[in-house]
Order: sequence, then C-alpha cells, then structure tokens
Amino acid sequence: MRGSSRGRVADWTRLQLSLALPNADDVARTVLFSHGHREKRCENEEQNKRFSSQFHHHLLHLLSSSSMPLPIRLALARVSPRAGFAAARFASTTAKQSTLKERVAQLIPEQLENVHLFLLFPIGPVSELNPVPQVKAIRAEHGKKSFGPVVVDHLYGGMRGLPALIWDGSVLDAEEGIRFRGKTIPECQLLLPKAPGGSEPLPEGLFWLLLTGEVPTPEQTKELSRDWAARAAIPEFVEELLDRCPTTLHPMSQFSLAVIALNHNSSFAKAYAEGISKKEYWGYVFEDCMDLIAKLPNIAGRIFRNVYGLGKVPSIDPTKDYSWNLAHLLGFSDNEDFVELMRLYITIHSDHEGGNVSAHTGKLVGSALSDPFLAYGAALNGLAGPLHGLANQEVLVWLRKMQSKIGEDASDEAVKEYVWSTLKGGQVVPGYGHAVLRKTDPRYIAQREFALKHLPNDPLFKLVGQVYSIVPGILLEAGKAKNPWPNVDAHSGVLLTYYGLNQMQYYTVLFGVSRAFGVAAQLIWDRALGAPLERPKSYSSEAIKSMFAGKAT
Ligand SMILES: CC(C)(COP(=O)(O)OP(=O)(O)OC[C@H]1O[C@@H](n2cnc3c(N)ncnc32)[C@H](O)[C@@H]1OP(=O)(O)O)[C@@H](O)C(=O)NCCC(=O)NCCS
Repeated sequence: MRGSSRGRVADWTRLQLSLALPNADDVARTVLFSHGHREKRCENEEQNKRFSSQFHHHLLHLLSSSSMPLPIRLALARVSPRAGFAAARFASTTAKQSTLKERVAQLIPEQLENVHLFLLFPIGPVSELNPVPQVKAIRAEHGKKSFGPVVVDHLYGGMRGLPALIWDGSVLDAEEGIRFRGKTIPECQLLLPKAPGGSEPLPEGLFWLLLTGEVPTPEQTKELSRDWAARAAIPEFVEELLDRCPTTLHPMSQFSLAVIALNHNSSFAKAYAEGISKKEYWGYVFEDCMDLIAKLPNIAGRIFRNVYGLGKVPSIDPTKDYSWNLAHLLGFSDNEDFVELMRLYITIHSDHEGGNVSAHTGKLVGSALSDPFLAYGAALNGLAGPLHGLANQEVLVWLRKMQSKIGEDASDEAVKEYVWSTLKGGQVVPGYGHAVLRKTDPRYIAQREFALKHLPNDPLFKLVGQVYSIVPGILLEAGKAKNPWPNVDAHSGVLLTYYGLNQMQYYTVLFGVSRAFGVAAQLIWDRALGAPLERPKSYSSEAIKSMFAGKAT
C-alpha cells in the first residue's frame, strides 16, 4: 500500500515536472510512460483499479485544464488516441458543470488558436475526435484563396449568394434548410432539454447550443431560466417611454425604441468608455446580451398590453422558464399548449445563418463596437420590413382579405384567382419565396406538424394548407420567383390566432424576441474573436462601365 502511494506521488511529480519539458512529444511520452509504469507496480486488482481511476482523473484534469499547453494536449492525442478520447469525454463532463459564460471562456482560446484542435469541442459523439478548424489556422492556410468570382450582378442584385460573412452558429442549406450548430430542427426537438411534461425544446438550451456547439444539461438550462428571470426587469424610464407611445405607433417601432433605450445601462458601453483591453470586450458584451434577452419579455409584454388595452403587466415568475414567462406577460400562460408553442416558436425563429437582414444588421452595427442594445435595435428595424419579419403579419392580413373577398370555405378555383390577382396587382404573395431556400422551409414544416397535432380541424389552418397546395404551382407558372415554396412566416400567424393572439400587427414582435438569441450569440463570438469593422467597397455605375470598357468578357 505504502509502496503504491509513494509510486503515485512519484508519478504525479514526474507528470508535473514533465510539463516543463520544451518538446511537446517528450512530455506526452513521459505522461504515458508514467501511466504505464504505474500499472506494473500496483499490488492487487482492486488497488490497481482505484489508483488507475485516480490517476486517470488527475491526468484528464490536466489535459483539459487551460494550464496544459495546447501543443502538449495535441501531442498526447497523437501519441495516444485513447488519452485523447478520454480527454474529450472528460472535457464534455466538465463542461456540463460550467455556467454558460465559463464554458464560452473555455472555448475562446481554442477558437482563436493557430492549430487544428482535436479536443474540447465535442459537437459530434464524444467517442469521435472532432477536428475543429480554427480561425487563425483557416486564415493562415486559406486566407488568400478565391471563394469564387464576384460578378457585377452581385453588386446590383442585393449581394444574393455572395460569400461575405462567417457565422458558425447556424448554417442554411438551400435544399435542406437550417441547422443550428449542425443540428436540424427535428434533432433540436429531440435533443434539447424540455420543460417538465413538455415536448418542445426550451430556447434556453438552444442559446447554449448556439454559443457552444453543445447540448446543455437540464440543470444548466434551468440555471439560464433563473438567470434570465433575475435580469428581466426593465428600467423605469423605459417603462415610461413605452407608456407614452401612442397606441397607433407600430409595435415594432416601440420595440426597437425600448431596446435602443436599454443602451443607457450597457456594461460594454460603460467599460469601453472607461478604457478596456480588446480581450475583455466579449465578457461585457456577454453580460449585455444576457440582459438583452432577459428583458425582452417585459418589453414585449408591456407593448402588447399598452397597445391592446389589456391592463397591467404581471410579474415574471423566477421559478418558470423563459417561454412560460413570455406567455404569462402576454396573458396566455394558463394554456400549456400556447406555452409549448412559444418554446418551439422562439427556437425555430432564433437564427437563420448570418446573411439575413436582421442577423447581418446586428453583426454590422456591432462591428462598429456599438453595444448589443444599439446593434439589436438596428436589427429589429430590419426585421420590421415586410420582405423580412413583417411578412408574418402580412400573411395574416392577406389571408383575412382573401376570406372577406371570396368567403371562408372558398373553392380552389376562387383561391387561385385571388392569388393571381395579387400577382397581377404587382404585389408579392407573403410567406412564399426565399433568398436562399429552394424547398419548403423546415420551420414551416415544424409549425405544420405542431398544427396537425394541436389544431388539425381549425378552419384557418385548413386555409393555410389549401394555399400551400395552390401557391407554389402559380408562382412556378408566373415564372419569376426562384423559390415557390412557403417560408416560416406562412405558418406562424395561424397558430397564434388559434390560441387567441389575433393582433396581427404584434406578430413580428415575437419574431423579434426570438431573433435576439441568434444575433446575441453572434455578437458575443464576434467580440471574442476580434471581428473587425465591416466595410465593404461600393462602386459607381460609371466605375463599372469604365472598368469593362473595351473588354469582351
Ligand atoms: C423572400 C423574398 C424577399 C426573396 O427575394 P429574392 O431573393 O429577391 O427572390 P427571387 O430571386 O426569387 O425574386 C425574383 C422575382 O420573383 C419575385 N418573387 C419572389 N417571391 C415572390 C412571391 N412570394 N410572390 C411574388 N413574387 C415573388 C420577386 O419579387 C422578384 O421579382 P422582380 O424580379 O420583379 O423584382 C421574396 O421571395 C418575397 O418577397 N417573398 C414574400 C415576402 C416574404 O415572405 N418574406 C419573408 C421571407 S422569410
């Protein structure tokens, strides 16, 4: 027993001493030799097991600690894949005990490092080594390579399809739709933590996933609910600001006004004014983003009750999740199905890669080091446009107009005629088409499945289904739209209406609450990775003409 104890100390000392060795491979071999040597010395099986587990624990702790230099961790993974697997598993276990901010702090150095890192970012199953190409490595290896031609049409055509941005949180494929950190909507529905008795993902978990690439534990998700509830109060002057808005001011304008006013208490703006290092930006931006998300239900609830004369805003319940509280402030928390809808709604509306108007605006404005409240206020102004988020309001307005014109149980022929009259009037069919997608939006499908489960016989849902069977054919026949299929906005309004939230002008506010999750995650990573000021180049038409004058191609 004493012998093995001495051996353990010797091993441990050797391990610690070895960290001072300059050559990473030497260190890795010493660590492994030390491990192997120990196994021969143990006196019996039980002792061997106990010591092995203690040793392994120390070893893995070292491997995953930030004090272990990266080259050594990499060398160790190279010399012994088993140790590499184990370290990855250990890192993910440790991650489950961290707060979100701690976890992001752990991930930042690896994201910045000039290496291909094998560990500590277990996006896939922990039994696999997941190579994660890092920012500096990508730039060093590929920085000067062409990403394809830029043609003049890109400049005139709203930069459609122009590769111009980096965002790892979500990726949009034209055929498949959105993936959040590699996970589809059904996968998120399956994997992310749920409320007790619920079946839809909690947006708290989605935010964790967007920021870290990891699925949080139920306890970590709960901690986020608690944290956001604790930060939810809005300053009195913002309450007064909202109370003084005329009820005729569009809810999105009020929303943007209130979010921008939160800049009064921005941690980042204050710290920046006092003078902080660039390395510290992300921590303050993180705090602002957490405050931003946390305060949105109180802003959204106050706007709803003010505009529609629904009385005093109730208090946040710190024991409940974010979506329950949002539903509560709107007056719908008694209906568990509506609360579930909010969980699904926020999750699927949270992010849609980096190039859409709201996400890109938030990123652009944030790149000037405007704080997250200013950046997200700007993003909301983009979301308020009818070709973007306001389309969910437009869809309901359009459907209601259709019903008043052709009746509630109209024939397919009558619906077709109405769709054609919209197109012939030079208007778009709201909720159809997309700048990137070329198939039915999986966010539409997720909502359709929710409707099939909860409101299969609702007349408005049936109309939405009827429109789905008619509009794509007409858009194809008209021959202009590149994508004739429905997007997320074609379906959200009917679900809200079913539960009694029929104030259509308000719908985009709920989209605005949701999109904050994705924009906030981007802002945090942009500041952590030192994303520069965005400044693309514009050209005059004269410059384009003279650039190509006399050239055949
Ligand atoms: C989303 C949207 C703005 C994408 O725009 P885009 O990338 O320029 O789309 P396209 O390249 O397919 O547009 C080509 C033409 O088809 C038209 N088109 C696209 N979608 C259409 C629709 N739903 N109804 C009628 N026409 C449409 C465009 O207006 C454009 O016409 P133009 O050449 O006269 O300017 C567009 O599809 C649209 O306006 N949809 C309705 C609004 C909506 O649902 N927005 C929410 C998006 S999530």
